[in-house]
Amino acid sequence: MSAYSSAASPNDLEAFFMPFTPNRAFKARPRLLSRSKDMHYYTPEGRAVLDATAGLWCANAGHNRDPIVAAIQAQAAEMDFAPPFQYGHPKAFAVSARIAALAPGDLDHVFLCNSGSEAGDTALKIALAYHATKGNATRTRLIGRERGYHGVGFGGISVGGMSPNRKLFGSLLPGIDHLPHTYNREKQAFSKGEPEWGAERADALENLVALHDASTIAAVIVEPMAGSTGAIPAPVGYLKRLREICDKYGILLIFDEVITGFGRLGYAFAAERYGVVPDMITFAKGVTSGAVPMGGVLVRKHIYDTFVKSDDPVIDLFHGYTYSAHPLACAASLATLDLYREEGLFERARQMEPIWADAFHTLRSKPGVLDIRTVGLVGAVDFESRADGVGRRAYEGMERLFHEEGMMVRTAGDTFAVSPPLIVSESQMGEIVEKMGRVLDKIF
Ligand SMILES: Cc1ncc(COP(=O)(O)O)c(C=O)c1O
Repeated sequence: MSAYSSAASPNDLEAFFMPFTPNRAFKARPRLLSRSKDMHYYTPEGRAVLDATAGLWCANAGHNRDPIVAAIQAQAAEMDFAPPFQYGHPKAFAVSARIAALAPGDLDHVFLCNSGSEAGDTALKIALAYHATKGNATRTRLIGRERGYHGVGFGGISVGGMSPNRKLFGSLLPGIDHLPHTYNREKQAFSKGEPEWGAERADALENLVALHDASTIAAVIVEPMAGSTGAIPAPVGYLKRLREICDKYGILLIFDEVITGFGRLGYAFAAERYGVVPDMITFAKGVTSGAVPMGGVLVRKHIYDTFVKSDDPVIDLFHGYTYSAHPLACAASLATLDLYREEGLFERARQMEPIWADAFHTLRSKPGVLDIRTVGLVGAVDFESRADGVGRRAYEGMERLFHEEGMMVRTAGDTFAVSPPLIVSESQMGEIVEKMGRVLDKIF
């Protein structure tokens, strides 16, 4: 029996406990992908599926790009693994320098890990260790935001603000608080880019400082665009306001750029788009265009210098992963960063943003649509839920898009979120909108 035919048999799908998936429903009617190239996936039967989500917000350069494939193949043949503790390999240093060069301000140092979740937990741990090392051991409180997503580690879900990701997992980390989210449909519906209303939501940090006292707060972590909750762009001026308040009270500001990094909002990092330099940036996904797992944390010079300050042969930071700076990931990332630069993909995303926004907002005329948001090459459409529960209409829509229209989207509640690879053509943008429009007609 071929690998394909065994995988296609529903009985053989049982063993894999799928993440963030209704297993029974999926296994009853699978959406299997077995090949990818550029803007498309292909099912085992060879049917093309237009990738409107860059995989999972990660394949920003498109799929299976030849230079990335070649770099991974060459690295696999040259050196499979090198320990990142007490030893190093050249590509780890090269890729860190390349990533730091893309970041604004003095975000000059890169701690490497393997995912966005690890990046989030790493940044939170660095924030705590930074204050402790500086003698501010009472600064232990971490502030996240409602509707935030920072991965699934205990740190990430504690500062995260999506209740299904938190509610079954005990008491989480102690000493956490949350800012309010920035979404208000009445005031923001159908905005293109950053909504005008909402900067004042950053002032809630003043209230948290008044409640807890600045001397107990280590860091604030936010996504410049809240992705997983349904693509909520930062309001105009909001991130600057957060930066000002953090500066006033000596609180570290962390941007989670796991989605917004590497061109999604038209810049290497959204920090550049918003003219704000955070103290740390977490990244993952687009750093290798999804081809090999990789994540990391950019840290400002003053943070690095706090840990790295003497020639003593003593470990600087007791943190790291066996697969930090994995050679395959570093090779994939170097090739990916070359592609981004050679093809000007970040600038391309910036130029295409108005065209994308205009096309996407035409869905406003479809039945049941409650709001549409666009920023960079991201689009989200909220629609009315069915009486039998939130998310069911979106699930039906996702199934129909896959089976009937040959397209992949993300859902969040009754929201379709799309974020195509940055190589998407204008006609493919039209195709994404048309397919989604036809399915919206069917699910109402
Ligand atoms: C903003 C953000 N942070 C962190 C993560 C977690 O990344 P990973 O799934 O690689 O652990 C994600 C994943 O979607 C994300 O969107």
